[in-house]
Amino acid sequence: MSIEENPFTPSFGEIPVYLAGRREIIDACSRAFLSERRRPELTTLFSGARGTGKTALLSHLADLAEESGWISVNITALPGMLGDAEIQLRRNTAHLIDLESNLSIASVGIPDVISLSISEGEAPRSNWRSRMDDIFDQLSPQGIGVLFTVDEVDPTLDEMVHLAAVYQHFVREGRKVALLMAGLPHNISSLLNNKTVSFLRRSNRMVLDRIPDSEVSAALVRTAQAGNRSVDATALAAAAESIGGFPFMLQLVGYYAWDENPKSEVLGASDFARGAAIAQQEMTYRILDATFAELSPGDLRFVAAMLEDEGDSRIADLIERLGRSSSLVAQYRKRLIDAGVIGKRARGVVGFDLPYFRNYLQEKLDDGELLLEPVGERSSSFNE
Ligand SMILES: Nc1ncnc2c1ncn2[C@@H]1O[C@H](COP(=O)(O)OP(=O)(O)OP(=O)(O)O)[C@@H](O)[C@H]1O
Ligand SMILES: [Mg+2]
Repeated sequence: MSIEENPFTPSFGEIPVYLAGRREIIDACSRAFLSERRRPELTTLFSGARGTGKTALLSHLADLAEESGWISVNITALPGMLGDAEIQLRRNTAHLIDLESNLSIASVGIPDVISLSISEGEAPRSNWRSRMDDIFDQLSPQGIGVLFTVDEVDPTLDEMVHLAAVYQHFVREGRKVALLMAGLPHNISSLLNNKTVSFLRRSNRMVLDRIPDSEVSAALVRTAQAGNRSVDATALAAAAESIGGFPFMLQLVGYYAWDENPKSEVLGASDFARGAAIAQQEMTYRILDATFAELSPGDLRFVAAMLEDEGDSRIADLIERLGRSSSLVAQYRKRLIDAGVIGKRARGVVGFDLPYFRNYLQEKLDDGELLLEPVGERSSSFNE
């Protein structure tokens, strides 16, 4: 068999050849799509830092739903998303429903969160919910469900909240509907604080965290196989270590390792070492810079204090180093966990989760780019 094109996908949102480490959630969702009874996985919120594979997972689940006979409507939380959802649903169901029936709409595409799309003087004839209901009425007898996937959850967007709220009505009315939403952890947390959609707190939650090294290794081998190359088994441990369980990094390392000796049948240790070095640079400007820019001065002081430990850090030590109250330190701990920068270890212990962030910070500190106030100065607020 001849060697194929590079099968790794170091881009955004592309479904990888081998989706590592998400087996359980994929199986649970597949079961839910096939089940006669309503299962909780049909309403799931995925949260994960940048590059953890939220978009890829949503796309994959939407494909699975379609294979199980559902119609999927895939949208990003942006202004106009309700109109977008409606247009997609109409297009994707055009072959199944009678468009001439009572589905007349004044203006598809204009979201009517508040205003109704009617001509002046007329009584309101339809709104987004009623038009959706009309479509569901036609799909129900055929047993066809509708899956909404919403990517890049934005809790400040009225349309996003409206969609979730209306979805709850669809569920209550016994419609065959599903809603899978994905977003950065802090956006998911704030959506859950919105009272209009408090039912989401009882929905299924799934955190996309690090992928175990064994799964990372399996993904390297399987992906290489898809391009008709094999992987030197002795190279896997170091390759997995350089990837740190981070899906985007997996694709970057694999991609650049592949290109080192694209004609060789075996990917070896030196390919991965080179690949990892190039991947690290790319990881820096595509993930680390963006994450760093979003951290507040308080967050930065917290992570800088962690650098004093060689490995993981004890919260008790951080409280002492920062000279702040345990409740304030707990707030920063939570924010950084939400941002995917750090993760919990044992009780009262945290460590860096975002691969390479530790070295990145250390370099910034050494280069004088990370200017921190002396810990003793409490006049300015830590709470920023
Ligand atoms: N489980 C996985 N196994 C292997 N590769 C993956 C996995 N999930 C995603 N990828 C790959 O990682 C890259 C990033 O994935 P994706 O764009 O889905 O991340 P994301 O969480 O949506 O990022 P962002 O927050 O920036 O939108 C993609 O190139 C994708 O092919
Ligand atoms: Mg994404």
